[in-house]
Amino acid sequence: MKRTRAVLLGWVAAGLVASMGAACDDGDGGAQGGVNPAPPGKPWATLDEWRLFEDHARQIPAEGVVRFEVIAPLFSDYTSKHRFVWLPEGAAITYRDDGAWELPVGAIVVKTFAYPRDLRDPSAGERILETRLLVHEPSGWVPHTYVFDEAQTKAERKVAGAYIEASWIDESGATREHRYVVPTTVECQECHGKAPETRLLGVKTAQLDRPGLDGENQIERMAGLGLFVNTPSGAAVRRRFAAADDESASLELRARSYLDANCAHCHSAAGDADSKALYLDFASTDPIEDPPANWGVCKLPTSAGGATCGHVFDVVPGDADTSVMVCRMESTRGADQMPPIGRGLVDAEGVALVRAWIDAMEPAGCGN
Ligand code: HEC
Ligand code: HEC
Repeated sequence: MKRTRAVLLGWVAAGLVASMGAACDDGDGGAQGGVNPAPPGKPWATLDEWRLFEDHARQIPAEGVVRFEVIAPLFSDYTSKHRFVWLPEGAAITYRDDGAWELPVGAIVVKTFAYPRDLRDPSAGERILETRLLVHEPSGWVPHTYVFDEAQTKAERKVAGAYIEASWIDESGATREHRYVVPTTVECQECHGKAPETRLLGVKTAQLDRPGLDGENQIERMAGLGLFVNTPSGAAVRRRFAAADDESASLELRARSYLDANCAHCHSAAGDADSKALYLDFASTDPIEDPPANWGVCKLPTSAGGATCGHVFDVVPGDADTSVMVCRMESTRGADQMPPIGRGLVDAEGVALVRAWIDAMEPAGCGN
């Protein structure tokens, strides 16, 4: 146990140096104490009480809190994200090739949303918006979110969501404004699943099998640190997603990774939109193994009230322009748009990817 703590500390320190690039100061002398989990069912009112961060404004984690990145992120109105995991002393993760890893009771997974203040100047820092937690209580995973004040001095727990008027300077020097929406904790469960089935979505091999900020593969590093109960499969056999902008990967792999990360939490057997029989999880979009109708090819939308944009089929091979899937990704009209929550802006790059994928499919003619 001692050993684990010591190496963890080493990892965090290495991660810090890598992420901050420069000085790794000791903070203001307040880094003592370590993470302070709330008693089950009694979440802290402010983020600082959890003691997950040494410096929340700069997203510098506390000792033992481990940063990670995903390959294919969920699009959230162009925010940047910071993700971390913390395990109670002596506890470890059960590695899996497929599906979410199993984290021990007591684990806390953290995801912070922020806008860089000036896209031309990283040293201007970020406007931190909210820090979300999934806390593994004995009864299951419990979601919380903590919303930051303008001055970034503290973050308070909000159950009913919030709006944040955010602004930043874009690459051209123009000021951009956006009303950012913090979800309610009921909405968390529309994607992460209702209690007691609430689940992790990104903590899985296909998403984490990539270099961390320090350049080392995250799974190798975690294994080396003794964070797993079992031994992960070798790198050669692990199946990983591809980022939307990874030109070295096939269009199909990138599009399927994107759909898994952005749609499958609802559009899968485990998800909220299961009854629509549109399955967009990575396994279901396999063009060889699965009937293409499962992922929308020449499929008539089933939802009576759902939007179709005047089109007939969810996916028309070779014709993105007449595919319902694309026009719903391009919509920002509340109920019509896909995903229906979690974004207010169109993911232009994500739409371009799905368009290219559909346009590249062999035209089949859906018989209409
Ligand atoms: C629109 C769907 C959606 C909503 C709403 C949503 N999440 Fe998530 N969340 C995801 C997806 C997908 C991931 C994994 C991909 C990523 O991190 O980019 C994720 C990742 C996370 C993570 C990192 C651990 C993990 O599961 O990979 C935490 C913590 C988290 N969400 C908490 C919350 C909380 C708390 C709320 C509500 C305040 C919430 N989320 C609302 C889709 C959603
Ligand atoms: C928060 C849950 C949620 C997420 C995330 C989500 N959807 Fe949906 N989707 C639904 C629900 C519920 C319906 C059925 C009601 C409707 O049509 O509006 C639906 C319906 C659809 C339909 C019509 C399906 C049919 O055959 O009836 C398409 C196409 C679609 N979604 C595409 C997507 C795509 C593409 C993504 C990701 C970019 C996505 N959705 C993400 C919940 C979600």
